[in-house]
Amino acid sequence: MGTIVVVGTQWGDEGKGKITDILAEKASMVVRFQGGNNAGHTIVIDDQTYKLHLIPSGVFNPGTMCIIGNGLVIDPEVLINELQALDRQGFDTSGIKISDRAHVIMPYHRRLDGLEEEKRQLKIGTTKRGIGPAYFDKISRTGIRMGEMVNPEEFADRLASLLESKNEIFEKIYNVEPMDFKEIYEEYSEYASLLKDKITDTSLIINNAIEQGEPVLFEGAQGVMLDIDHGTYPFVTSSNPTAGAVCIGAGIGPGQIDKVLGVVKAYTTRVGEGPFPTELFGELADSLREAGGEYGTTTGRPRRIGWLDAVVLRHARRLNALTHIVITKLDVLSGLPRVKICTGYKMEGNVIEEWPASLGVLQKCEPIYEEMEGWSQDLSKIDRYEDFPPQALAYVKRIQELVQVPVSIVSVGPGRHQTKILEEMSY
Ligand code: GDP
Ligand code: IMO
Ligand code: MG
Repeated sequence: MGTIVVVGTQWGDEGKGKITDILAEKASMVVRFQGGNNAGHTIVIDDQTYKLHLIPSGVFNPGTMCIIGNGLVIDPEVLINELQALDRQGFDTSGIKISDRAHVIMPYHRRLDGLEEEKRQLKIGTTKRGIGPAYFDKISRTGIRMGEMVNPEEFADRLASLLESKNEIFEKIYNVEPMDFKEIYEEYSEYASLLKDKITDTSLIINNAIEQGEPVLFEGAQGVMLDIDHGTYPFVTSSNPTAGAVCIGAGIGPGQIDKVLGVVKAYTTRVGEGPFPTELFGELADSLREAGGEYGTTTGRPRRIGWLDAVVLRHARRLNALTHIVITKLDVLSGLPRVKICTGYKMEGNVIEEWPASLGVLQKCEPIYEEMEGWSQDLSKIDRYEDFPPQALAYVKRIQELVQVPVSIVSVGPGRHQTKILEEMSY
């Protein structure tokens, strides 16, 4: 038995939640290792739709433990609402554990997220959930960790001194009212009392499980192109959604990662601002957006739509050392007479095959497309993968060739049953 990491290979929303739910069936635990409630993972079980932002998508599998690792920034109110909603729906959340080292999203983080975005010349289009400001405080060593939040004296001291400097920023830079210590302290003390029993050293639990040979699944949020180091900086999130972050964000060593599964949407989407070379506009974009239900799970914003981009996927393969890929939402392309895949970019007479760091270069890049025949059959209704129309099979095969990583799962609908396992993913 070993470990599997699930990561997004594009700009997020690839269907990581659905795939994690499926792989969680055989896992003893599912661990989130970065991000926060900027993530939105939708899981459909028997016609019921569930949306998760912080709790790992393993929670629908009885007996699978769920862990929120130290690499996350946690908005306790959102977490409590999510726990309570799951409890009401009859799912067991009693075993969920939260790292004492994860950072807390405070009300001033959410407020700063909005104010900073308003002031920014180059808007990022953040989710305004306080993610960037909370990671900023973590790196600046001015954050509050979950383990501190549940210790009343420690929390009061820390909050008092940190709030003083935040209020200075609010008043002097943004010209807005300061925030009230008592109000925040009381609100967060209530959250602390509700979460206290779940907060612990999660790295110990995860390492014990791995040493015992248990199957452990790590669930990524966002995608490689939103990675703070490797994505479309500055149009990125404030964490590393790549597989390497598992070590830091869960507290394990690199040798403990066995397989890395990249989730690839059969086309591309992006929420928020920033470069997107294969972006489509007009009728085709609108019809794919509707067919794929491409509206943000967290903010409800319409997602930008584009053709599949193999430059992005190769970037994802290298940075994650992908061992397998999953193709999701192949059903959404049904009905198109032709489909396109971008294989490289043309830039001032040169061909670029690797994602460039410079936004200036990216602006001049024009996608080079390979066209393939489309298919009309509704893939979500076909039982066996072998019975898919040859054009759809050729599309999958071509992705595998371009990325040079075996495709192990093809998903053709949001439901659990709409999943074709080409190669069993053993732990
Ligand atoms: P995540 O953030 O990567 O977990 O992805 P989201 O949940 O934000 O977005 C993926 C959306 O596509 C969700 O609404 C899923 O229910 C849905 N979905 C996942 N796989 C498929 C698929 O193969 N076909 C279709 N039509 N929808 C899918
Ligand atoms: P999942 O896990 C898609 C995007 C935001 C914005 C940028 C920065 O569901 O795939 P932030 O609030 O993180 O500072 O915003 O990142 N973004 C996502 N886009 N899916 C996500 O998560 C995202 N999380 C953040 O739209 O462009
Ligand atoms: Mg999502």
